Amino acid sequence: MATTLMRLFNGETLAVPPIWLMRQAGRYLPEYRATRAEAGSFLDLCFNTDLATEVTLQPIRRFGFDASILFSDILVVPHAMGQKVWFEEGEGPRLEQITTGAELAARPLRFDLDRLAPVIKTVERLRSALPAETTLIGFCGAPWTVASYMIAGKGTADQAPARLVAYNEPGFLAAIIDQLVEASIIYLNAQLAAGAEVVQIFESFASALPPSGLRTWSMEPIGRIIRGVKAAHPRSKVIVFARGASSLLAEYAVVTGADGFGVDWGSDLADTVERLPEGLISQGNLDPLALVAGGEALETGVARMMEVARNGRHIVNLGHGIVPQTPLAHVERLMELVRQPRA
Ligand code: CP3
Repeated sequence: MATTLMRLFNGETLAVPPIWLMRQAGRYLPEYRATRAEAGSFLDLCFNTDLATEVTLQPIRRFGFDASILFSDILVVPHAMGQKVWFEEGEGPRLEQITTGAELAARPLRFDLDRLAPVIKTVERLRSALPAETTLIGFCGAPWTVASYMIAGKGTADQAPARLVAYNEPGFLAAIIDQLVEASIIYLNAQLAAGAEVVQIFESFASALPPSGLRTWSMEPIGRIIRGVKAAHPRSKVIVFARGASSLLAEYAVVTGADGFGVDWGSDLADTVERLPEGLISQGNLDPLALVAGGEALETGVARMMEVARNGRHIVNLGHGIVPQTPLAHVERLMELVRQPRA
């Protein structure tokens, strides 16, 4: 039998909309914090097949989400290209910066899928460990978002270093993005071959580009990735989450050929969904802080999503990743609200 998200993607009408949460394996779970402490560094956890499988399964065991997202990070791709990547405790990702074409020429990058073998093994392990109805979602970062980390060496509020490169040395940005497109196709196809059925492409810094920049540096490269994925895995489904670009999702749909679109929490869900081409799937967009607050904020936020989900083409989710201070009881309440019987 097909898994829940695949049934939705293939046009079946489900009595209850499917639900999963971005960053559902994370620090809000005490069992994640325990495994994380055992693993050592965050990247050690990503590359430890046993422990990465365990943390991926933790939120499924606890809450019974309809989909399980592979535990890894978007920055394992630059790592596999030979760039130095590490995580500063309590701060976030750091990379050895590459800021000019001359630097890239001096230290060429080359993607080596073998460096991600433990992650692909995690996907294989998960497919046999997950309940039969649970969809396994693989993922990668979109080229612009990953490139902006590779250039800035870290996350910044507005990704100014990469935006400046886009204006001053577009050929250099294009070269990095081309390499990321190639790497992402190989990486996503390996995840799909290992047992993922859906992949999500995270464009977390869509908010840092104007519409013309999004067309060049986001939509077009994502479209190339999706064509490369669909050529090898025609039945797979692709979700694009372009945070801060909800007003352009109809254009993303046409240019990229994605099957589903995540909607960020800053957008009006009903309005965004109305502008999506017929038949596409939407996902989102509860404010992660409404889930922290609970009470009225949670009840009304969920009601708004459930109203949209009545169209039979919506996946309930957050409008960005769950945050560490989220009370477990509020996630339980969210599940109850989504799954309660309706007239
Ligand atoms: O959703 C899941 O449960 C799957 C795993 C997943 C992680 N990161 C685990 C993680 C996924 C899909 C990601 C994607 C990711 N990573 C994105 C795109 C999504 C988004 O949030 O916009 C980005 C931008 C990154 C880069 C990244 N990784 C940052 C900025 C940080 C630090 C932020 C933080 O919360 O500390 C990470 C670390 C990270 N990735 C954690 C987790 C669970 C926390 C690390 C820890 O345990 O200390």
